[in-house]
Amino acid sequence: MKKGIELNQEFYNKVASLYKDEFDHIKYTKEDLDQHRVFEEYLIRHFYMSCLMRDWTLESKPERDNNYGNVLKEVKKYFNYDDKNLMKNKNFKALVPGTGCSRMTFELANRGFEVEANDFCFIYILTVDYLFNYSHKNEFQFCPSIHSFAHSYTESAVVKKYSFPDIDIRQELEKNEAKPITFIKGDFLLKYKGIKDKFDLIVTLFFIDVSKNIIEYVEIMHDLLKKGGVWVNLGCLDYFHSRYHNSIDLTWDELRQVIKNYDFEIKNEVTDFVPYGVKVGSMVSDSYGTVFFTAMKK
Ligand SMILES: C[S@@+](CC[C@H](N)C(=O)[O-])C[C@H]1O[C@@H](n2cnc3c(N)ncnc32)[C@H](O)[C@@H]1O
Repeated sequence: MKKGIELNQEFYNKVASLYKDEFDHIKYTKEDLDQHRVFEEYLIRHFYMSCLMRDWTLESKPERDNNYGNVLKEVKKYFNYDDKNLMKNKNFKALVPGTGCSRMTFELANRGFEVEANDFCFIYILTVDYLFNYSHKNEFQFCPSIHSFAHSYTESAVVKKYSFPDIDIRQELEKNEAKPITFIKGDFLLKYKGIKDKFDLIVTLFFIDVSKNIIEYVEIMHDLLKKGGVWVNLGCLDYFHSRYHNSIDLTWDELRQVIKNYDFEIKNEVTDFVPYGVKVGSMVSDSYGTVFFTAMKK
């Protein structure tokens, strides 16, 4: 257990060491630090580890092939990314809000899109900066399940180590002559509200329900897209905020109507359970009922 926790810490230290100077001048109170610690422990245990596992380990390839594979197939219907000349000449701009550990951002950049990705959480932004700019294939090992013995058949599953990233990210991007990727740190609402007609494609994965007002998110997506631009979404309607704050929690039927009212044409709609953050050797299987839709700005 101790070795596993230290292994995880080695990775955090390596990432943090690169950015230490940028944060050293900030003076936190003890209360701030306690609050951050509680939040980050929660974030790391429940979301971050499974995000890293899902996006950058070989073991999660089946989950990626299913979820991201379907999204990329859908994207290809509108942007034939196999046509390298088309992608070079057209310079399609894609946005990935709530990019997390950013595999989808990588996949789109690798296919010739000029990608902008956004997240408001430092731990994701710094991790991704490290992975995309400095890491090499299988540079790290980590123990994503070390924080909980619940729902485990075996101890070996809890302490199991995984290597990541499963590919050399920089080499792959260079090989495919990917355009530069821009990572924007900050709240989606603050960073993107009011920007118009900028993107050809927006991909949201398990993101739209982080909003407190999902109607506002639909409006922003509509503004951000160029006419004829496409928004592909895969994710659940968990409405995280409704546990703690007021939040507008629409059913899919209601949300679909809102999307149509904003002058989108729904081109594709699939409601299905998909695997999400599946843990090998766990007694519970994480899968979510999701909506997978494509909406085109008229
Ligand atoms: C459930 S995770 C999904 C991550 C990634 N899209 C995936 O499927 O692996 C939601 C992501 O959205 C980010 N996020 C939540 N609220 C946000 C906001 N208001 N602005 C920007 N990012 C946000 C979180 O930090 C997290 O990375």
